[in-house]
Amino acid sequence: MEVATPGAKPAVYGQSDRPPRGDYARGGAVLADYTCPQDYASYTAADHDTYRRLYERQSAQLPGMACDAFIASLPSLGLKDRIPRFEEINDRLYKATRWQVVAVPGLIPELAFFTLLANRKFPVTDWIRKPEEFDYIVEPDVFHDLFGHVPMLFDPVFADYVQRYGAGGIKAHGLAAGEKLARLYWYTVEFGLIKQHDGLRAYGAGILSSVGELRHAVCSPAPRRLPLALERTMRSRYKIDSFQSTYFVIESFDQLFDMTAPDFAPLYERLATQPDIEAGAILPGEQRIE
Ligand code: PHE
Ligand code: FE
Repeated sequence: MEVATPGAKPAVYGQSDRPPRGDYARGGAVLADYTCPQDYASYTAADHDTYRRLYERQSAQLPGMACDAFIASLPSLGLKDRIPRFEEINDRLYKATRWQVVAVPGLIPELAFFTLLANRKFPVTDWIRKPEEFDYIVEPDVFHDLFGHVPMLFDPVFADYVQRYGAGGIKAHGLAAGEKLARLYWYTVEFGLIKQHDGLRAYGAGILSSVGELRHAVCSPAPRRLPLALERTMRSRYKIDSFQSTYFVIESFDQLFDMTAPDFAPLYERLATQPDIEAGAILPGEQRIE
């Protein structure tokens, strides 16, 4: 049985001057695994309107920029004009790939996060940004988590990749390699690009839920784009408060799934002896993808 943890501690990743948002107490409604009921009653008309406007603006710029799998499954989120109920999405998502979305109060600690993913439960923050954060928000909110992440979980291969990532995360945590593995999540699930039959497209949620970064990531000549290689990616630091300066590109979701099948323990040992690579740096001899 899961027990409520009154005052469960919020997680902080990276550096920020603000305390984390989200109410982690909720009168004891947050369970030991950090999940909680979606607080649907607390959404105001303005909150629903924020979701509607974000959805409308972002869905309009997907053609030619988002990968086919994302575009095909976006309608499975259901309502566009207000924040959907997670249970409604789950009816469809569970049938498609046996994944579920679960509500969380905000960012959660690494091990809790990996454990949910390993159990095919995707944590979705239930609150939405304020109108003044319409264009930019530092922490994930319900729009980023639902719109950005959940359509891809309808893709069977990608869905299996994310579960495998969660199980690998539990192991990495035990080997003190959680931070290295988190970089792989960042450069795939959050900021991944895929070479589709008709050109480069985004599949990463951080790109797909961002008004400005979508064009930057897919079309701008400014950022570096490199083929995804495990070691290179896990050595690469990243910035959380600006557009990415490097993106890693995959050929297919099968490639991603297959390249993460082997035991990473020897890789973590090697990584421990190698220096990190600064965000945006290019190593001698590296070929950018045009
Ligand atoms: N195969 C990796 C391991 O043995 C786990 C993993 C899976 C990592 C998927 C990333 C993505 O540790
Ligand atoms: Fe995210």
